[in-house]
Amino acid sequence: MELINLLFSLILSLLVLSVLLLLYLTRSPKALEGIPGSLGWPIVGESFSFFSDFSSPSGISNFMSKRQKRYGKVFKTFILGRFTVFMTGREASKILLTGKDGIVTLNLFYTGQQVLGPTSLLQTTGEAHKRLRRLIGEPLSIDGLKKYFHFINTQAMETLDQWERRKVLVLEEASTFTLKVIGHMIMSLDPSGEEQEKFRSNFKIISSSFSSFPLKLPGTAFHHGIKARDRMYEMLDSTISRRRSGQEFQQDFLGSLVMKHRKEDGEEDENKLTDQQLKDNILTLLVAGHDTTTAALTWLIKFLDENPIVLEKLREEHRRIIENRKSGTNLTWSEVNNMSYTAKVISETLRRATILPWFSRKASQDFEIDGYKVRKGWSINLDVVSIHHDPEVFSDPEKFDPSRFDEPLRPFSFLGFGSGPRMCPGMNLAKLEISVFIHHLINKYTWRTLEEENSVQPTVVRMPKNKYPIIVEALKSNE
Ligand code: HEM
Repeated sequence: MELINLLFSLILSLLVLSVLLLLYLTRSPKALEGIPGSLGWPIVGESFSFFSDFSSPSGISNFMSKRQKRYGKVFKTFILGRFTVFMTGREASKILLTGKDGIVTLNLFYTGQQVLGPTSLLQTTGEAHKRLRRLIGEPLSIDGLKKYFHFINTQAMETLDQWERRKVLVLEEASTFTLKVIGHMIMSLDPSGEEQEKFRSNFKIISSSFSSFPLKLPGTAFHHGIKARDRMYEMLDSTISRRRSGQEFQQDFLGSLVMKHRKEDGEEDENKLTDQQLKDNILTLLVAGHDTTTAALTWLIKFLDENPIVLEKLREEHRRIIENRKSGTNLTWSEVNNMSYTAKVISETLRRATILPWFSRKASQDFEIDGYKVRKGWSINLDVVSIHHDPEVFSDPEKFDPSRFDEPLRPFSFLGFGSGPRMCPGMNLAKLEISVFIHHLINKYTWRTLEEENSVQPTVVRMPKNKYPIIVEALKSNE
């Protein structure tokens, strides 16, 4: 059996190497010669140094700064099987993110394209993208979110009630909390029980398949991801059919889309969605919203521990909220929308951690940036880490300092939630979840880091590798 496995792995590796070699030899665009930079070794290009920097504490900034010093703000490389041009700076951000005249499209990796399905928001462009965004963005507006506030508040309190005098892996807890919230919002899923477990375990497999090797053979992480996606779609199919037959009625995300926007067979109305579009986009929201919010919450708690002055100032804001409240009442919707310092702490977290270190685009026509000609079909990555650590905009960029956000910043210098037509439609939800959670955490507890480890996971979304273990104590009244 072992011999068969060994042979199988050998054949697989040879196959993969030949495909990569073929890619490297046949697809190297001649026009790239005009762009400075190195394509590295045959087949692997510069993937090894990219990966090793990627999971180091400073993330890809080492990889970027070495090359930016040598080649300037625009350079080419070959990483993860792709010829890529990296760019940074405000001009590049403006051109790539506003995507004027449809000059670029989002550039998903093959694994993402396959798992999310062809009708995902991330794979649509132009007018179709605008329409889809309007439909799925509606329930994520501030007004649309109000009805979920009570659930979010209750889940935050219940999660935190379990933390006292325990060792906690913050990333795990944040993940469970954000998944319960999104499961409830989308399809009124109970926060505990068999369905929640099924939802959670399928989602975890789907999520890890994104960073897997793009080989869809039985036994691979990618194949497991596709299978888990199919199981998730079965869950959604049965919920959609219960809703449609009138057996079940809920005023959640699915409820509003099924009621208002479901397209009947053969119907032409472009403002309605087919079941496939519904499922692809629910999965898109889950994938785009879960790891990002989980990571942001975890980094924020870590940064607070490392910056006691900021923590104290934040506590003051939240103490004042409680003092101004009639005794016995709980956090309210209006209080959570008036946490001005908390909002700056969230922005500074997104700047400092830069959870999505680059934004990927594909040129859909020829154009020019910073004097360089970009050709149709090229992969272009906007290096957001350098933008967020530009000392001319953010003095002493490594310092965690929320007061940087006291005054409005110049456009395209802070891209925590992106900018332009692809700007994050879930940002209000993310801010709401984080603000509510932080309110209860800092009013209830103090915590201490258990490991001084700063490595990050080698995944698309930057997260602490050790999941940030802490030990939690009740806050004494004089603290
Ligand atoms: C702190 C948490 C979050 C962060 C830091 C974040 C960040 C971002 C960024 C930077 C983009 C733009 C990427 C680009 O231009 O290539 C984006 C897009 C997106 N985000 Fe978020 N996000 C967060 C939470 C959420 C949530 C909670 C949801 C949904 C429930 C969500 C759904 C999406 C979707 C669907 C897109 C793609 C939009 C499009 O292509 O039109 N995100 N996010």
